[in-house]
Amino acid sequence: MMARKKTRKMTESQRWLARLQKVESPDVTYVSETFPIMMKKARGMKITDVDGNSYLDFTACFGVMALGHGYPRLQRAMRAQAAKLVHGMGDVHPSASKVLLLELLARITPFDSAKSVLSLSGGEAMESALKTAMVVTGRHQFVSFSGGYHGLHFGPLALSDRTTFTRGFEPWIQDKNVVIPFPFTQPSRSLGCEELTEEFYRDTHGLQHWDTVLEKLEDALRARRIAAVVMEPLQGRGGERTWPSGFLSHVKKLAHQYGSLLVFDEIYTGLGRTGSLFALDHEGVIPDLLVLGKALGGGLPLSACVGDCLDAWGRSGGEARHTSTFLGHPLACAVGHASVNEIVRRLPEFKSELIEVERSFSKFFDEYEQREFHKENPVQLRGRGYMCGLWFPASAPGFAAKISEQLLHLGFITLPSGPRGDVLSFTPPLIARGKEFDLVLKAVLQVLAK
Ligand SMILES: Cc1ncc(COP(=O)(O)O)c(C=O)c1O
Repeated sequence: MMARKKTRKMTESQRWLARLQKVESPDVTYVSETFPIMMKKARGMKITDVDGNSYLDFTACFGVMALGHGYPRLQRAMRAQAAKLVHGMGDVHPSASKVLLLELLARITPFDSAKSVLSLSGGEAMESALKTAMVVTGRHQFVSFSGGYHGLHFGPLALSDRTTFTRGFEPWIQDKNVVIPFPFTQPSRSLGCEELTEEFYRDTHGLQHWDTVLEKLEDALRARRIAAVVMEPLQGRGGERTWPSGFLSHVKKLAHQYGSLLVFDEIYTGLGRTGSLFALDHEGVIPDLLVLGKALGGGLPLSACVGDCLDAWGRSGGEARHTSTFLGHPLACAVGHASVNEIVRRLPEFKSELIEVERSFSKFFDEYEQREFHKENPVQLRGRGYMCGLWFPASAPGFAAKISEQLLHLGFITLPSGPRGDVLSFTPPLIARGKEFDLVLKAVLQVLAK
């Protein structure tokens, strides 16, 4: 692995970025003097930029490349399908690859007779879930949790409590959703957090006691206007936040008591990311609708809303009420089918490597404790499996974003997460080994020591 070359001459990356800025809407790509890189090619966990620098990918490119980049079996599936049929006519003249994928989803999801609506992005699959919940219940409002991220399409945007995303769209999303605070959870592993009080977590991070959260949830449900409670069984962009044990089953019980559905957004957590096929497996809570995306397509755009209640839509009389041009895209379905099969096949191996990953974090915490900075900068380990993060609860907003940028210069691609940008998130391909975690965590110590 090679760290990024520092040179005064304009790099190839900078030249491309200058061109990009002239033609892309300025809100899309954040560009500074040293950020971002311009990707050229990738294999396994290694990404190479247009200047020839290489990086270890600790993001799986937003959790999509679960099997790593350039996975041979997926590339073979892609070539074979591309030679036959790339695009079809999803809701009019479907293809066999769509049927095969839908059958596979029905087999691996925890429903008795699952049916799905396919789409291309996570946000679109969330729209399918929200519309399905409205069709099933005849209601039109939703409940979500603070810090949740469900995409920025107009449907899921209404579930967000982050003004970064909702600014300018308030009138559109008004009265569509109630946001409930996130409950306080005991960290699985932490250093220097003993002094931080419950008031601190409430005032600085908005975390509330479990009883208060459930009371607020019941208040929202009582009017029987809520079509669905929508949540990630482990918040991803919210900062690798796990719920207190037993919390999900309380939410399900309350939702059903008041005639609302429970929707699990497993776009990020699904398909092996947390060390089990779905994050819901850890608590054994089955939702009414399960939403998948990211890893589903093996790198091609593909998402799905799956459940037992899709029959509520009724049978199409020739004009589907909810569809799109690319629905059931043959190429994406073929690669998705190969990807899901491969994740399922290799899951025991990915799971067993997590012992080594835990060892890497243990080493990190031992070394962190030896350093002076641990007193001013308490740290907690969050998340599960290949979706974990280091939370610095007493740091200034944006702290993890700064670490992440420094790590880039040392050859590691990471992302900050959490509404305050104070969680350094690791969501590598599931092929990541303990030794790769050793490398990145050593680099984190190096950056923090500065
Ligand atoms: C949990 C979750 N839901 C939904 C989405 C939105 O997916 P997309 O960006 O594909 O629309 C994301 C994206 O990060 C996500 O993490």
